[in-house]
Amino acid sequence: MDSIPANRRFWNQISRAYQHQHDPQIGATPRLWGMYSIPDAHLHALGDVTGKRVLELGCGGGQWSRALAAEGATVVGLDLSEAQLAAAARAMGAARYPLVQGAAELLPFADGSFDLVFCDHGGLRWAPPHLAVPQAARVLRRGGRLVFNATSPWFEACYDEDARRVTNTLHHDYFGLNTIAEDHGAVSYQLTYGDWIKTLRGAGLIIDDLIEPRPDPGTLNGYNETDPPDWAHHWPAEMLWITHKP
Ligand SMILES: C[S@@+](CC[C@H](N)C(=O)[O-])C[C@H]1O[C@@H](n2cnc3c(N)ncnc32)[C@H](O)[C@@H]1O
Repeated sequence: MDSIPANRRFWNQISRAYQHQHDPQIGATPRLWGMYSIPDAHLHALGDVTGKRVLELGCGGGQWSRALAAEGATVVGLDLSEAQLAAAARAMGAARYPLVQGAAELLPFADGSFDLVFCDHGGLRWAPPHLAVPQAARVLRRGGRLVFNATSPWFEACYDEDARRVTNTLHHDYFGLNTIAEDHGAVSYQLTYGDWIKTLRGAGLIIDDLIEPRPDPGTLNGYNETDPPDWAHHWPAEMLWITHKP
């Protein structure tokens, strides 16, 4: 819970610039996953959401929530940052949906409230997984799905802080990733693959798939520099977990 104030400050601080830089890309087309904007139509991660109760955990500017609400889901967008929520409110489409300020660490919803909980680099990257995963599992109904995309341990281990880019050299201990220092005192989180599996299973979830989105060479990374530029074509930059609550 310690990172909540710093992460809230960080996202409030960068929200305007972040949306200015990224919304034209991530808001242009519905259902784009991650740093390389790979269409869900290619990855088949989320499925049909029509009529489903959906929670986006760390909705940011609401690009995903807006799209799913337009498809007929009953969406709630939750985020820690009031500036990000304000951006989502400004960008809301004709299909209105509620925005809630809160933390993935302690969700303000009753048990079994949702058919689908998901995020794309949201609360499951920016909150400690040992808190956020059980909370997500708690608010899912039986049979409901938790689907989330986040940076991979490969990407973090190969991140060169000095050059501010990902390279094909290991720079960090795989077993020591845990908390990742972001700019302005913010923190994101990473586990080993083994610990992700333990954390998901420990929360009572069944792991159905781990998709490793692979961009074509030449696909733009809208967020990070990589060396070589087609790094993510060779190594998995992200991990897209597909799970359900039995
Ligand atoms: C990279 S954005 C994800 C939103 C969108 N998918 C995107 O790519 O822009 C990360 C979001 O997570 C939110 N966030 C950070 N910590 C959080 C927490 N503990 N609980 C919920 N949301 C959090 C931030 O405020 C931010 O809006």
